Amino acid sequence: MKRVDDFRLRLGKQELVPIVVGGMGVDISTAELALEAARLGGIGHISDAMVPTVSDRRFNTKYVKNKLRQYKFNVANTEKAVVQFDLGLLVEATALHVGRTMEAKRGDGLIFINCMEKLTMNAPRETLRARLKAALDSGIDGITLAAGLHLGSFALIEDHPRFRDVKLGIIVSSLRALQLFLKKSARTGRLPDYVVIEGPLAGGHLGFGMDWAKYDLASIVIEIRDWMKAEHLDIPLIPAGGIFTGSDAVAFMEMGAAAVQVATRFTVSNECGLPEDVQQEYFKASETDIEVNTISPTGYPMRMLKNSPAIGSGIRPNCEAFGYLLDSAGSCQYIEAYNREVALHPGAKKIKVMDKTCLCTHMRNFECWTCGHYTYRLKDTTRRNEDGSYRLLSAEHIFHDYQFSTENKVALPD
Ligand SMILES: Cc1cc2nc3c(=O)[nH]c(=O)nc-3n(C[C@H](O)[C@H](O)[C@H](O)COP(=O)(O)O)c2cc1C
Repeated sequence: MKRVDDFRLRLGKQELVPIVVGGMGVDISTAELALEAARLGGIGHISDAMVPTVSDRRFNTKYVKNKLRQYKFNVANTEKAVVQFDLGLLVEATALHVGRTMEAKRGDGLIFINCMEKLTMNAPRETLRARLKAALDSGIDGITLAAGLHLGSFALIEDHPRFRDVKLGIIVSSLRALQLFLKKSARTGRLPDYVVIEGPLAGGHLGFGMDWAKYDLASIVIEIRDWMKAEHLDIPLIPAGGIFTGSDAVAFMEMGAAAVQVATRFTVSNECGLPEDVQQEYFKASETDIEVNTISPTGYPMRMLKNSPAIGSGIRPNCEAFGYLLDSAGSCQYIEAYNREVALHPGAKKIKVMDKTCLCTHMRNFECWTCGHYTYRLKDTTRRNEDGSYRLLSAEHIFHDYQFSTENKVALPD
C-alpha cells in the first residue's frame, strides 16, 4: 500500500515532499506554519491578504493606524474613492512580511505567497503589481495566483529579473479557467510551473457558484490531466479541497497529480493564526454547522461556520483603515448593503446586514470562520483534554500524518 512519502514533487531542479499547505487569508496560514511545511520538505504558503495589518501585528508597525488617521475625515462618507493605498507603504509592509519569513526559512522546502486578485484595493492593477513585485524583490520562492482569473498577472511582472526563475502557479477550478489563463499569458512566453486545481470542498472562497455541490474534484482533475496530455503540456497538477487523509492524497497521486494542497487540517495546529477559542469552534463543528453562503462582497461563494460573528453583523464599513475589497471605482458590495439597511432603519443604533459582510474587518479580527467542508472531521484527528476541550496539534504531526499514513487512518497525537 502506497503512502504520500513514496512520491516526490519535482519543480525545476528541486525535489519536494508532495504536500503543499495552502494559503489561508489574513494570517491564518502564518509564517510559522509555512516555515514548518518548508522545514519538513514540503511547500508552505503565507498570504498577501491585508499585509499591512499583518505586519502591524507581527512587527508592531503602525500602517493601519496611520492610514485611518490620514482618511479619518471620510469615515462617515458613503463615497470611498478617495481612500487610496500608498504603494510605497504597501511595498514596505510586503517586504517586511515576506523578507523576514524568508530569512527564517530552514530545510529543503519552499515558501510561496498566495496572491489574491480579488483584493482590488481601489486600484486593482497598481496594487497587485506592487504586491507581486515586492514579494519577488524580497526573495519569495514562489507565487500562487488565487481568487481570480489573473489573465493579466504574468504581464504585470514580466519585466522583473526573477520572472523566469521564481516558481509561478495558478489556482483554477475548471479546465476553462486554465485554458483562458494560458491563452492570455502566452504572450509572456512563460507557462506556470504548477497548477492548483481547487474543488468545491475547499475552505475560503470557492471558484464555483452556489451549485458547487454538483462538481467533484476528481472529475475536474481528470479532465484537466487528459487535456494537458493531448496538448503535450507537462505542468505539475496539484489538487486541493477535501483531501483529508494521506490515503485521499495517494488516490490523487495515483491519478497523476504531482502533489496535493491541503489546509483545513492545519487550522487546528499550534502554528495556525486562528485564536485558540476559534480553533475550538472548528473542532466542535458538526456537518450541519457549516454552510456555503454569499455574504462575501467579492461575489464568490464562501464556506464558513454558521456561528461566525461576521454573519449578520452590521458594522460601519471600515474602508479608511482597511479597504482591501474596494473596486477601481471605490465601491464594495458591503457598503451598498450597509447603506440600504441604514436607510431602512433611520435612527437605529444597531443594524443587521444579512446579505453581505464587512469581510476586511471580520477576517482581520478572526470573526469570519471560513473552513473546508470536512471541518466536522477535525474532532477525530486529536484527543480531548480533561476539561473537555480538544488538544491542538503541531503542524509537524499533521504534516507527517499526511506523509506517512495509510488505509485512511489518521494518527492521533501521543
Ligand atoms: C481557513 C481557510 C482560509 C483560506 N483562505 C484562502 C485564501 O486566502 N486564499 C486562497 O486562495 N485559498 C484559501 N483557502 C483555501 C486553501 O488554500 C486550500 O486550497 C483548500 O482549503 C484545501 O482544501 P482543504 O481545506 O479541504 O484541505 C482557505 C482555506 C481555509 C480552510
